[in-house]
Amino acid sequence: YGSSSQKTDYVFKVVLIGDSAVGKSQILSRFSRNEFSLDSKATIGVEFQTRTMVIQHKSVKAQIWDTAGQERYRAVTSAYYRGAVGAMLVYDITKRPTFDHIPRWLEELRAHADKNIVIILIGNKSDLEDQRAVPTEDAKEFAEKEGLFFLETSALEATNVEEAFVTVLTEIF
Ligand code: GTP
Ligand code: MG
Repeated sequence: YGSSSQKTDYVFKVVLIGDSAVGKSQILSRFSRNEFSLDSKATIGVEFQTRTMVIQHKSVKAQIWDTAGQERYRAVTSAYYRGAVGAMLVYDITKRPTFDHIPRWLEELRAHADKNIVIILIGNKSDLEDQRAVPTEDAKEFAEKEGLFFLETSALEATNVEEAFVTVLTEIF
């Protein structure tokens, strides 16, 4: 986990978006502090965390922004997306509506973010396979059609969280 004495070659802003309770804040907590909480509170406004990683021999500081999925708690949209070079579009594999809303999130992203932003679609809570409501194939197909990267993650079990960030940061590079 990021050492502060390292010199930073790049700072990359990455934004997390998606419906409330899909696990955006816990994905961030897992990535930045290797922590997870089952009684995570809904985010109000904007929070961010950073972690420095070495990618292709360069020190990259990932500055990850997290906002509320709930409309009434959301940050000012334009400020949230300003300067972002990566985006993680998150749904919950056990809640079909969170996947059905992805096109709307993508529309907002494309309206406000830089056109070259790198986007990954993330199906979180892969540990809850017995409650799955979104087949992996549906998401994979959607991602291919829209030109997005795609991974299923579990913030709880720390599955693919690191890989998701590395995918985005490497592609930004
Ligand atoms: P908002 O801040 O309201 O937009 O929600 P959020 O997307 O940040 O969700 P949050 O990270 O707060 O997680 C919501 C709930 O899902 C919490 O109870 C988490 O513990 C739980 N959760 C998050 N990730 C996982 C996961 O990978 N597996 C399981 N089983 N639960 C998870
Ligand atoms: Mg949150």
